[in-house]
Amino acid sequence: MFSTTTILEKHVKNWAMRSRDLDAAGIYDDVIKQTNIFGMNVLELGSGSGIMTKKLFDMQPKYLISIDKDIQMLESAKSYLENQGTSVNSICTGSPPFVSTGDLDSKSINLVLGDYTEYTAFDGIDNKLDVVFLAFNNGIESQRIAQLGTALNTTDHVLKKGGRFIWVDGYNSDIPESEIGRLMFSGYELRSENTQIHQVLVHKDGTLEVIDPKALPSDYLQDKRYLSIIIAGFVKTF
Ligand SMILES: C[S@@+](CC[C@H](N)C(=O)[O-])C[C@H]1O[C@@H](n2cnc3c(N)ncnc32)[C@H](O)[C@@H]1O
Repeated sequence: MFSTTTILEKHVKNWAMRSRDLDAAGIYDDVIKQTNIFGMNVLELGSGSGIMTKKLFDMQPKYLISIDKDIQMLESAKSYLENQGTSVNSICTGSPPFVSTGDLDSKSINLVLGDYTEYTAFDGIDNKLDVVFLAFNNGIESQRIAQLGTALNTTDHVLKKGGRFIWVDGYNSDIPESEIGRLMFSGYELRSENTQIHQVLVHKDGTLEVIDPKALPSDYLQDKRYLSIIIAGFVKTF
């Protein structure tokens, strides 16, 4: 029988491998290329192994806060970021987690342990952030969509008017536009120029390859080995 710890450790290891593959396939770089966050206050939802966190930090935001609810994920992100020579400011959180602007360090990545569906994790930074970034949310597609709705509880509160919510994920769908359509949250406008779709082939050994959408094989619709990577930017209008 697996202990909870064993399952969590496996999850951390699996994501560490998958995120390295996504990085090697150039997906993170493609996302970063169209995500200008220079000088901005940015919140990343779900640090994971920290690869995207590092790339966001290298874009020189004013403040970068990255939150994860899984302590092992957060520790793995912290050691990855420190190994990359990045300064990390770990914000100690109680219950419920609390982050205020006074705790933030502009020269470090501000890591927070907490659940991003809980608005109380961000007391003190209401309506102050320019960008909320969510990449590769956990779970199967329907859960991810449901969780996106709850993530917006937080996003609605922390984003300033005109701020951007940037969402990246992979779908077993040939029509990712329909997924984006499901995300037309009230009060947000889709920034079509920020929307881009990559097609990814998942090989049997789990490795990923970015492929030309025009070269999709005819069995694409039935074959779950093909993922569409969606990048969508939404602007908060209220
Ligand atoms: C699949 S990983 C993606 C990590 C990273 N964004 C990336 O692109 O590499 C998803 C991460 O989100 C975290 N997560 C999922 N739901 C969360 C929640 N409600 N609050 C905080 N973190 C969450 C998980 O612990 C995991 O580390």
